[in-house]
Amino acid sequence: MGRALGGALLFAAATLLLPAWTPAPTDAPTEPGPAAAAPEPVPEYAENGMVVSAKRAASAAGVEMLRKGGNAVDAAVATGFALAVVHPFAGNIGGGGFMVIRQPDGSVTTIDHREDAPSGATQEVYLNDEGTAVRSRSRRGYLASGVPGTVAGLLKALEEHGTLDRETVMAPAIRLAAEGFPLPHTMAEDLNDRYDAFAAFPATKQYFTKGRASNKYRPGEQFVQNDLAQTLRRIQERGRDGFYEGKTASLIAGQFQENGGLIDEQDLAEYEAVEREPVTASYRGYTVHSMGPPSSGGVAIAQLLNAAEMKDIDRMGFNSSATAHYLGEAMRRVFADRAKWLGDPDHVEVPTEGLVQKDYMRRRMASFDSSRITPTDSVRAGEPMLARESMETSHYSVADSSGMAVSVTTTLNSGYGSKVMIDGAGFFMNNEMNDFVLKPGVPNQFGLSGTERNLVAPDRRMVSSMSPTIVEDPQGRLSLIIGAPGGSTIITTTFQVIMNVIDHGMNVEQAVTAGRLHHQWKPRHLSYEEFALSRDAVRNLRARGWEVTEGVFGGNPRWGRAQGLRVKHPADRPGLERVFYGGSDPRADGAAVGF
Ligand code: DON
Repeated sequence: MGRALGGALLFAAATLLLPAWTPAPTDAPTEPGPAAAAPEPVPEYAENGMVVSAKRAASAAGVEMLRKGGNAVDAAVATGFALAVVHPFAGNIGGGGFMVIRQPDGSVTTIDHREDAPSGATQEVYLNDEGTAVRSRSRRGYLASGVPGTVAGLLKALEEHGTLDRETVMAPAIRLAAEGFPLPHTMAEDLNDRYDAFAAFPATKQYFTKGRASNKYRPGEQFVQNDLAQTLRRIQERGRDGFYEGKTASLIAGQFQENGGLIDEQDLAEYEAVEREPVTASYRGYTVHSMGPPSSGGVAIAQLLNAAEMKDIDRMGFNSSATAHYLGEAMRRVFADRAKWLGDPDHVEVPTEGLVQKDYMRRRMASFDSSRITPTDSVRAGEPMLARESMETSHYSVADSSGMAVSVTTTLNSGYGSKVMIDGAGFFMNNEMNDFVLKPGVPNQFGLSGTERNLVAPDRRMVSSMSPTIVEDPQGRLSLIIGAPGGSTIITTTFQVIMNVIDHGMNVEQAVTAGRLHHQWKPRHLSYEEFALSRDAVRNLRARGWEVTEGVFGGNPRWGRAQGLRVKHPADRPGLERVFYGGSDPRADGAAVGF
């Protein structure tokens, strides 16, 4: 029997076993994708610099620094502290994050200011007597917090890469806390909705409720945070010692010790932000710098880009079933790797170099079949070459006129973190301990699993998905600053925005608006935002064997809140080296502010 005939018979036999209709095994789009985002939305425009963040007042705080002659780091630090005041949902001084900095000469570094586990943290703390993981301990209350890193990270960035003094960059945040700001309706409604969660903790009840559930916050009322203003003033005067030593440290440690928490004064005094190399990937001639371990973001985005580069994604069509099928397969494999290999590089060996090699991803995608999903049980982590050496978050993107850029993602983990506020200091503490693996096989709140590499251990940093990213164009010039909140969807959101710009030629506002897909290996379904896939595409994906679900994490219909900043170099404007376009995700009330 000839090979061709044999193949045809096999194909015919296979067809009988498959659902009624199976799309031809091809990468060509089988249906038009949804119009990426119907009309092309118009991004913000500026010629001297720009900040894009989750709140207009925080973006404006950064731009105030640029107007004073400060650089992108000065602006980012001012925005970061201001977010701690006007966006307490995720902006913070009680949490942590990652910052990627690009210098005007193109050199790139990162500042890891992820929380670390208190020295008393062990796996047993999160298990009951039967050895079962008690997930609530890592999500709410005093056991949920890691040692905060934001203040150390922002100040390290300012000291090493900024040009303005602390007094100047912290002034807008202090003003916003002391004088207050008009409550946006979104925040007023959110605070009212969370009365019960907040009332469980006396300081949170005092600061973030009006005493009784029936006393509601009203949109537009002035929201003043006097104790937070004092805390910020102590940092302004004494630098990191104003937070990690002295009054603030003793308030944190005292209240944690009194309430069964783990953080003590020594944990605070010993906290250090760490400068690390970025993870750098190339994509269709562009260069993409993102955050390395303990974030999984940079590695995963590099892997996804390596997979995407093997196909003509634009020809396959924006969110056509052919594209969604391919990206879904790549995402499953990448998240399987994330679960197995990622950990804190200061405590476990992470094979970063092996994972981000183009050849490795080529091998991982070798089992891809354009007509059928790869059977779920056979999708497992790969074996990268081991190198010899080694829901709420907020993203902000900053660029100045010199070509310097800063990309920061910061978090308390859940919205308002552990819900615990520090009495007398006026800020929320994170619940980042939930990003550890409490026990192998027990997923975290985003459904992410992991191995012993990410178990709770003293002083260890929990694996993150945060992916602050900076992209350079094929000429090596600054091109895109991007990142997003959203737990595990941070990675797939950031990846898709990069593809929207590079593959689909979208402007930055359109790129952050367009509908998104997500797959994280486990659970097994391919998620899509309600407007991200056409019905035809959903049908064609189901025919390939996918379980396709609208929404993520039990029904969130949309996700992401990306904040993007595009930098272009106009050839027809002599004397003007670069211009700035801001895209703030319409899924929330962020703002791009430029000047
Ligand atoms: O570091 C992480 O990956 C998580 N703590 C991020 C949490 C998050 O994005 C929640 N927001 N929606």
